Amino acid sequence: MKIAVLPGDGIGPEIVAEAVKVLEALDLKLEMETAPVGGAAYEVAGHPLPESTLGLAREADAILFGAVGDWKYDKLDRPLRPEQAILGLRKHLGLFANFRPAICYEQLTHASSLKPELVAGLDILIIRELTGDIYFGQPRGRRTAPDGHFPGAEEAFDTMRYSRPEIERIARVAFEAARKRSKRVTSVDKANVLETFQLWKDVVTEVHKDYPDVQLDHMYVDNAAMQLVKAPKAFDVIVTGNMFGDILSDEASMLTGSIGMLPSASLNDKKQGLYEPSHGSAPDIAGKGVANPLATILSAAMMLRFSLGQEEAARRIEAAVQKVLAQGLRTPDIHSEGTTRVGTVQMGDAVVNALR
Ligand code: NAD
Ligand code: IPM
Ligand code: MN
Repeated sequence: MKIAVLPGDGIGPEIVAEAVKVLEALDLKLEMETAPVGGAAYEVAGHPLPESTLGLAREADAILFGAVGDWKYDKLDRPLRPEQAILGLRKHLGLFANFRPAICYEQLTHASSLKPELVAGLDILIIRELTGDIYFGQPRGRRTAPDGHFPGAEEAFDTMRYSRPEIERIARVAFEAARKRSKRVTSVDKANVLETFQLWKDVVTEVHKDYPDVQLDHMYVDNAAMQLVKAPKAFDVIVTGNMFGDILSDEASMLTGSIGMLPSASLNDKKQGLYEPSHGSAPDIAGKGVANPLATILSAAMMLRFSLGQEEAARRIEAAVQKVLAQGLRTPDIHSEGTTRVGTVQMGDAVVNALR
């Protein structure tokens, strides 16, 4: 089993090193090959997603990804910016189904910014469509406004779009996932305003006919953002588009204690997958040794489960993470009174020890 390891920028290399350490401790005979991506790749190869890195990702059974991006690249032409690497990987490999499970571990109910009783026992699954929507729609660009309130002024535009098959396949992924859980799906849209999301709602409703055993609700995204912090446990599976999913999953991460706790899996129809924490490269804390590696370590567990057929090893990692939390070890982002503050490497070491 071959894994492409793409650490990237900022805290990427720090957190990926801990996940690799945990994988190595499992003795699974995984072949891991590392390649540069994002700003790190731009520095050595002049492109955020060099052919060699894309080639490695294509031939691997799974990809373990850290994070990309740094403010210092903000002035580069868009195709050369670090973020294009992760967008390119998702597009080139057809990774349309993004699973972001927001689970609040018992030991972290006090780390959340919400009242403990609102998040205790929380276990929701956000399924974000990942290769369509305004992220990839054409045309986009800058031009002189042909009309509008300020004709002749400089303007910028993007295109939000979804096709029926794109919506159908992500809806099926959500209903199938719900069947293995509490059989409830909330489809989040903005059908009251946007044509794209009226089609979304119509298609999800049609696909639902094949899943009569699953309960389907529709909710507008603004209300969903509010309900997520009002009564998050009312949700089970949330399915939504690329941009709404991006925003709602960052919001949901705080229900679990920290964005440093939210793993993700991005799958294509061949179950090849890219596994990465939901957060970014955190330039504000990069190099300080304080980043929380648990989202990446939990992403590695998802990799073992979804792409490598190693359910037992996945569970061992998840149990080890819980054990470490029960021991009271906390990186600063999840630290609270009475717990022990540790750094990135100590946290990784503790997970490795807990595996034994
Ligand atoms: P971010 O997720 O990197 O950071 C947001 C905040 O959360 C920061 O205060 C950061 O310190 C904190 N944080 C994030 N991960 C953490 C962790 N593991 N442990 C402790 N604290 C953590 O988002 P941002 O600051 O908006 O973006 C920074 C860069 O990352 C940008 O260039 C952005 O484009 C990029 N980004 C990349 C990805 C990706 O590679 N998939 C995802 C999101 C953002
Ligand atoms: C994420 C990130 C990416 C996204 C960026 C870096 C392109 O925010 O993975 O959530 O918007 O999808
Ligand atoms: Mn995001």
